[in-house]
Amino acid sequence: MIDQKLADDLKRRAQEGDTAVLRSPELRSLFDQLKTMPAEERAAFGQEINRLRDELNRLLKAVQDEAEALPPIDVTAPVDINVPAGRRPRLLPSGQGSQHPLMTELATVLDIFYRMGFSAVESREIDDDFHMFGSLNFPEDHPARDDYDTFMTSQTDKDGKQFIAPAHTSTMQNRVLQQLKPNLEAGKAIAAVIPGRVFRNEDLDARHEHTFYQLEGIYVDKGINAGHLIATLKTFLQAYYGKELEVKTNPFYFPFTEPSFEFMLSCPFCDKRGCQVCSQSGWIELLGCGMIHPNVLHAAGIDTNIYTGFAWGGGIDRLVMMKYGVEDVRHFESARLDFLRQFS
Ligand code: DAH
Repeated sequence: MIDQKLADDLKRRAQEGDTAVLRSPELRSLFDQLKTMPAEERAAFGQEINRLRDELNRLLKAVQDEAEALPPIDVTAPVDINVPAGRRPRLLPSGQGSQHPLMTELATVLDIFYRMGFSAVESREIDDDFHMFGSLNFPEDHPARDDYDTFMTSQTDKDGKQFIAPAHTSTMQNRVLQQLKPNLEAGKAIAAVIPGRVFRNEDLDARHEHTFYQLEGIYVDKGINAGHLIATLKTFLQAYYGKELEVKTNPFYFPFTEPSFEFMLSCPFCDKRGCQVCSQSGWIELLGCGMIHPNVLHAAGIDTNIYTGFAWGGGIDRLVMMKYGVEDVRHFESARLDFLRQFS
């Protein structure tokens, strides 16, 4: 009988891929033992040694086969491992990521409006003709529609109209007015802000992007006038920039407001001394606003004999650019780490 411990030892070495085990003194000593054995035991012992040797060969081959087998393809791997190391995309560990500056700033903006009694409703990234134009008092084929040139799907809705990537967050006005109308019946105001991603068919430059973010605001109650509008925006902007600011309005045109204004802000970056951010003028044209057009309130089923309201809409990118002196709006969507890391 082969010593059990010796056999186990040899097998373990074979399992570890030690090919020298076949020529090992321990194995050879078994053959030596064989020579000195009585003839009647020799045959059985010889067979036992052969079986052990076969077993060692089998174990060694299994180890070798495993080493030679191609690793299975990991379809979830981030890179093709057959690409030479120097040419593989370099991935950052996810732990090194940080929140996008626009989202950090949006949280600050919303926090100010929550404290002013507004609630927030998220906008959507695909909408229809009714919400983009019809509900906002844009007549069919009116040239004002051209100011909101954006992207459309070839697929159409039940009226045969193409779906639209919203060019402004005003697309949400009708929905939010309808949704919060019960507030009015309960003697409370409709007060909502609506952040959202918007899209325009633009010639791109430092001030124009095809994709950007807007913040819409709506306020409806009894006896609301343009003074409330200006005071609300001024209060928000002073809280956001953390300083006293001057504001003024210029008359403007939007189909969904009457009267309509362009809202101007003294440059928070240079305090009206003139700088690159305000093109040396000391003033920034910040957003569009006005008293909500009666047709827009009617479209949402609100009685304009009792209620009036104001609304505004402006770029969040713009707001943030002025806070930090960001010179090019395209940085935000560029995924440039040198830009993003300044805010992390
Ligand atoms: N939607 C307009 C734009 O993107 C901005 C705007 C103007 C929004 C007046 C409003 C508003 O809610 O009342 O150009």
